Amino acid sequence: TSGNQPYRTSYHFQPPKNWMNDPNGPMLRLGIYHLFYQYNPKAAVWGSNVIWGHSTSTDLVNWTPHDPAIYPSQQSDINGCWSGSTTILPGGHPVILYTGIDTENRQVQNLAAPKNFSDPFLREWVKFKHNPLLTPNSKNKINATYFRDPSTAWLGCDGNWRVIIGSQKKERGLAILFKSNDFVHWEEAEKPLYSANKDTGMWECPDFYPVLIKSALGIDTSSNGPDVRYVLKVSFFRTPHDYYMIGTYNPDKDIFIPDNGPFKDSSLRYDYGKFYASKTFFDNKYPLHRRILWGWVNESSSAIDDIKKGWSGVQAIPRSIWLDKSGKQLVQWPIKEIETLRGTQIELPYQVLSGGSVLEVSGLTAAQADVVISFEISDFIKAEVLDPSWTNPQVICSRKDASVKGGLGPFGLLVLASEGLQEYTAVFYRIFKGHNKYVKYVVLMCSDQNRSSLNQDNDKTTYGAFVDVDPVQEKLSLRSLIDHSIVESFGAEGKACITARVYPTLAINDAEAHLYVFNNGTENIGITRLSAWSMKKAQIN
Ligand code: FRU
Repeated sequence: TSGNQPYRTSYHFQPPKNWMNDPNGPMLRLGIYHLFYQYNPKAAVWGSNVIWGHSTSTDLVNWTPHDPAIYPSQQSDINGCWSGSTTILPGGHPVILYTGIDTENRQVQNLAAPKNFSDPFLREWVKFKHNPLLTPNSKNKINATYFRDPSTAWLGCDGNWRVIIGSQKKERGLAILFKSNDFVHWEEAEKPLYSANKDTGMWECPDFYPVLIKSALGIDTSSNGPDVRYVLKVSFFRTPHDYYMIGTYNPDKDIFIPDNGPFKDSSLRYDYGKFYASKTFFDNKYPLHRRILWGWVNESSSAIDDIKKGWSGVQAIPRSIWLDKSGKQLVQWPIKEIETLRGTQIELPYQVLSGGSVLEVSGLTAAQADVVISFEISDFIKAEVLDPSWTNPQVICSRKDASVKGGLGPFGLLVLASEGLQEYTAVFYRIFKGHNKYVKYVVLMCSDQNRSSLNQDNDKTTYGAFVDVDPVQEKLSLRSLIDHSIVESFGAEGKACITARVYPTLAINDAEAHLYVFNNGTENIGITRLSAWSMKKAQIN
């Protein structure tokens, strides 16, 4: 990050320049992690003729760039190589399924395989001669502009592979299911794996995988059994957010049955800020067994500013993802390897943060840091009662931003803050009294970008989420990964995540950026832990 590029990140994945969107085909093979990504080699804005960029890593932190893996070269992808996934076939052979934009601008599905299996980096990929494998046509009645993003395939007990592809029919989102016994000939199943029962618009980048009950370990995408639940995630093009449901997979009927009824706007999300077109993969690098989530975080700046800076888009720090003990939601946590970048460490002793106070945490590179804080509340009397009609956390966070005094909160962090607090991004909690006897307290987590920059051209939308945690029984923790123009925050050990993009004009780089803890409520709050680290720069591309 130099003077004229204050918004480039130091440990988030990004190409040296130009446009990046979805993570594609993440996988581990022979100890090497692969990340492909939607890339426009010609501009800092999206173009329909995007290609697959490719980088590899041995630790998910430092990345080596390679030549693009997939780019237009056949009739079936001549107008663009869109998103897709990898599947590791028996014998350890990876293959790619991806969406091509063909000569008639139809979305079709293509297959590619490594040219040389003895190349540890799998730098060159060969496309199947008889691509496309799947086309939209009058027989299957699939719309040629709504047929994309094949998932990682899974193997059923009957020996057939299954894959889902994003679509819509009459504005209703669809995860169309296809089956194959040779990975080349695919047949559409009678029913989609899952479909919307009302207008949702196009479902992009579907992801479907098993998670273990009462364990944070990940399992292979084709595993099934009594201790397993399933997750279906789709990216709602309209909103645009990544929503997921937990449920049961019936392998005989090949349908997914969500626990809590159909997708709705209030369904669970991976992230309540910016995080889109995400994808998971199973990582069993010895001795690990985990599922890892990658997600694209787009800019909040104007396209004009993106063109000026010459790039757009970063990937979130890969997150371990697993089923919460409650079985009701997923939990996410930054991969532990990211902690290898932790440098200078600051620890604050236990202290009480009195109502209305701000405390600076100094001695860090505050534009490039990892901060963990825990709060303790001993007196709940001043918690305000939550108006029962206030059901949308994002709206509550916007109306009650960090500057609005409350009873219990707002308390939290001011990150990427300028010395005089002309600029800051506030990540904080508010605790309300519930309005019935079953919900005693409601914990709201907010990321408030209102004051993040003096530049008015940025999107400064405020984000918010309810956090399913009991503040009487548990300390309330918050972790933020701060990296120049991105703030990824994890509430209550990963039960709620909010990612924001911000572009301070004063609070830039380590000399000018500051970090504070604040309490803008009337009640005092105890800080039981504050550990913060300066983060080193990763080697990225
Ligand atoms: C999601 C998406 C995908 C598509 C790709 C094109 O961001 O729209 O549906 O395959 O991006 O770049």
